[in-house]
Amino acid sequence: RGLQHVRPAVSEHTHVTAADGVIEVVLDRPEKKNALTGAMYAELSAAIERADAEPSVRAVLVSSVGDTFCAGNDLQDFVSSPPTADSPVVRFLSTLAGTSVPLVVAVQGPAVGVGATMLLHADYVVAAETASLRYPFASMALVPEAGSSMLLPRVTGYLRAAELLLTGEPVTATRAVELGLVSRVVAPGNELEGAREFVARLRRQPPAALRLTKRLLRADETTLRSRMEQEMGLFVQQLQSPEFGEAVAAFMQKRAPDFDAH
Ligand code: COA
Repeated sequence: RGLQHVRPAVSEHTHVTAADGVIEVVLDRPEKKNALTGAMYAELSAAIERADAEPSVRAVLVSSVGDTFCAGNDLQDFVSSPPTADSPVVRFLSTLAGTSVPLVVAVQGPAVGVGATMLLHADYVVAAETASLRYPFASMALVPEAGSSMLLPRVTGYLRAAELLLTGEPVTATRAVELGLVSRVVAPGNELEGAREFVARLRRQPPAALRLTKRLLRADETTLRSRMEQEMGLFVQQLQSPEFGEAVAAFMQKRAPDFDAH
């Protein structure tokens, strides 16, 4: 993964800046609650790949604009172009699983779907009191992705993970800290500053040792990748199911789904 793979910034919904040993990515699609499009995934992947290719970079910091951190994959996109082996979402998840650069995230509001599962790949998460995490895959007739079926039980213990993944119910920021899903809770508006404070602590550390340490912390990448493949197979299968059709229709029509009829 060399610099030649870095694509220029193409998405109006993502802003990337690089300075003083940190690459900052800001998701900026507040009108759709920062739901991720193919272009946004591509930008996120390129930013992480760029960080990996530049040895002096100590961290990638992800944050977003508006009241929601990220509402997950764009549901319209899932319907119109389901993920394939080389689609931007798959490349993003693979980059996330393989990066050696510490990932720091500032969460100001709801983090839903991949917005929540990407945090399982982070090394430090600052959440405002207004933040919440939600893994609504089963509720949307889908299955957990981004390795969350493996990573979540590892962080929280099996029963808590099962409850979160089976019900799709949200977790408050305070509970997320107790569960080990968030590093620190701050007053609303202070999350980006809190994330930058952590980056400043990393900035004083030797970069090569930081990368080696992260790789050791995340050493079971092979097992993770094979689980992610298994998840994606079932995920794509469920995207074709009548129950997913009902879940999306209900979301778009702003009504409760009726899974008994499907
Ligand atoms: N994909 C596409 N559009 C989305 C979206 C998504 N994942 N999440 C939100 N939006 C859109 C809504 O359709 C709505 O569009 P409209 O203004 O054209 O009707 C707009 O963003 C605002 O969303 P809305 O639900 O009205 O805002 P809210 O403040 O009531 O709720 C969330 C915000 C984030 C809690 C809610 O949108 C949500 O739960 N989204 C997540 C959907 C999901 O299940 N994602 C995971 C997929 S696996």
